[in-house]
Amino acid sequence: MDRITKAARLMIVSDLDHTMVDHHDPENLSLLRFNALWESNYRHDSLLVFSTGRSPILYKQLRKEKPMLTPDITIMSVGTEITYGNSMLPDDGWVEILNQKWDRNIVTEETSKFPELTLQAETEQRPHKVSFYVDKTKAQVVMKELSDCLKKRGLDVKIIYSGGMDLDILPQGAGKGQALAYLLKKLKTEGVPPVNTLACGDSGNDAELFSIPDVYGVMVSNAQEELLQWHAENAKGNPNIIHAKERCAAGIIEAIGHFKLGSNSSPRDVADFVECKVDHVNPGYEVVKFYLFYERWRRGETDNCETYISSLKASCDPSAIVVFPSGAEKTLHECIHTMKGCYGDQKGKQFRIWVDRVLSTPTGSSTWLVKFDKWELSGDERCCCVITAKISAKGSGASYGYTWVNVQQKWLEEYEKKDDSTWLF
Ligand code: GLC
Ligand code: MG
Repeated sequence: MDRITKAARLMIVSDLDHTMVDHHDPENLSLLRFNALWESNYRHDSLLVFSTGRSPILYKQLRKEKPMLTPDITIMSVGTEITYGNSMLPDDGWVEILNQKWDRNIVTEETSKFPELTLQAETEQRPHKVSFYVDKTKAQVVMKELSDCLKKRGLDVKIIYSGGMDLDILPQGAGKGQALAYLLKKLKTEGVPPVNTLACGDSGNDAELFSIPDVYGVMVSNAQEELLQWHAENAKGNPNIIHAKERCAAGIIEAIGHFKLGSNSSPRDVADFVECKVDHVNPGYEVVKFYLFYERWRRGETDNCETYISSLKASCDPSAIVVFPSGAEKTLHECIHTMKGCYGDQKGKQFRIWVDRVLSTPTGSSTWLVKFDKWELSGDERCCCVITAKISAKGSGASYGYTWVNVQQKWLEEYEKKDDSTWLF
């Protein structure tokens, strides 16, 4: 929580599977579009919250499979576990609240009497969450009977059906909605309530997110039947909740535009940065733009022309040095020269670059130290450098663009590139 010292301009609270992450898009294009938008326009003054049904184990697995950003706050196991920051520091206060009126043993004892319930994997059974699979056709009846049963045993629980197959049993005070309410209250108590909050989801366990006061909501276009039905019955006329036209992360971007919560133009939607002038630029935007251009160059998606090379060179101080993870040094101009020869070498291949955790600290009136994680996916190999760059504003203001003054790279543990002959920036 220590990074949260100012009220967030926008807090996005998003589900992961089939909301932030589109499992039907092997290229992850809308997720990458969202990432570029977030890091260039929001990371420095907004909060990203992931709210997933997954346990910490399956959540970490998903992060290894998909190009996901690091959220500021992670809510897992259907709102029963809240953690902060990259180190995932748990919120013990939340655990204490959930312990009230909860007895896991009674839940397992009673549920064992229902042959319609199939227990989910061991990793998904958590201190405040017991999870099963149940057939769509039997779900309603089972939920009713189970609820009566547990009430008779003196338990106050919440039973949630999601994705047309998952049944979760949680303490009554748990769930994604309650976890969000708890978080909003905490931020308010600390004097930093977000200016705007946008909840994003696709399935049953997300419904609660949309009933928290003063929260905008987007059900992505591919939302599940059970969520749309909940909406029809409970929130039909509410203009603060929309059913997006676009799938997954593209639906989230659509909602940012619909509710006018800030910029909804992802740098990935900009075809030509030389032509494009952006109004409120910040060093984060420069970093995203730089690496996006590099990706496109190697994929052979830009024109192979000298104008781009000159413009890139013009954004680097002629004496600017890159210190590679090995300790070797090169000037940025030398790197650009090498890059020139790599035009299109990744054409038709899986090659993507994204940046995460872009944070800039001013070191003078027009200079910043910008720290970020640079990820490169090449085929099946994923590598990452933690980069610290010194960047300064050109001329009298950022509207003239930025100059890279130096770059220092360090491999992120477990993600170093074996053959680093084509690792440039
Ligand atoms: C995730 C969890 C699962 C849960 C489901 C719905 O898939 O892994 O345990 O039942 O979300 O909340
Ligand atoms: Mg989902």
